[in-house]
Amino acid sequence: MLRHIKSDIRAVFDNDPAARSMFEVVFTYSGLHAIWAHRVAHTLFKRKFYTLARIVSQVSRFMTGIEIHPGARIGNRLFIDHGMGVVIGETCEIGDDVVIYQGVTLGGTGKEKGKRHPTIGSNVVIGSGAKVLGSFRVGENCNIGSNSVVLREVPDNSTVVGNPGRIVKRNGQRVGDRLDHTQLPDPVIEMFRSMQNEINTLRAEVNSLRESSVAVREPSEQQPVKIPVGGGEL
Ligand SMILES: CC(C)(COP(=O)(O)OP(=O)(O)OC[C@H]1O[C@@H](n2cnc3c(N)ncnc32)[C@H](O)[C@@H]1OP(=O)(O)O)[C@@H](O)C(=O)NCCC(=O)NCCS
Repeated sequence: MLRHIKSDIRAVFDNDPAARSMFEVVFTYSGLHAIWAHRVAHTLFKRKFYTLARIVSQVSRFMTGIEIHPGARIGNRLFIDHGMGVVIGETCEIGDDVVIYQGVTLGGTGKEKGKRHPTIGSNVVIGSGAKVLGSFRVGENCNIGSNSVVLREVPDNSTVVGNPGRIVKRNGQRVGDRLDHTQLPDPVIEMFRSMQNEINTLRAEVNSLRESSVAVREPSEQQPVKIPVGGGEL
């Protein structure tokens, strides 16, 4: 138990450059408080004191803003930074050395029964506001970008960003340029571009007509020459 507490505190120092002293970490890091409360709730849950476990988890949620279902299985040295708004579902499993920022949901889609929450591998970073929904696995050493919505299995050593989440890096190499959704054509912008091109062409045409009209007029100022353009006059 004491070993766990020590490694939890160590995880804060390893992940948060703002952490100054042991005293500050123990008394002011709500992520740490939520994890400790969860250990109590999870022990009660395993001994089938379900309601008591829920009460502990809800009191912890009230105090920290972090809701971890007592049934969730959490590995060593989880670091929840800032914490507010984090939700971790009942059948969620989290490996070792995972970092979770505020506003992360490890939840279900509402369509599955039984195991319905994700399994997070070790050494994963889940950015603020990210939602990981469903009973799939996020592999080891993955980065989930902030505000991503991940709905599918993620292989080891991948970076996932966007909504819906897509893999942009794997084993340190960029992937998926072909499916780079940020580069999809925007029809409205395309239309404005083609209108701008049309305007530029027309403007050039009008200028050249204006110039040729001036050139024709110059030899005899007394006799202005009218040049018809498309049936009209300039
Ligand atoms: C995803 C993250 C972990 C970086 O992982 P990484 O493997 O180092 O990935 P990179 O920084 O090389 O980014 C890869 C690509 O994804 C893009 N990207 C990164 N994070 C993104 C995000 N959250 N949303 C959309 N695109 C993102 C990058 O711009 C880059 O695109 P490019 O290749 O076209 O330039 C990081 O961007 C992130 O979101 N961290 C969370 C931090 C956080 O929540 N902080 C809260 C502090 S309070």
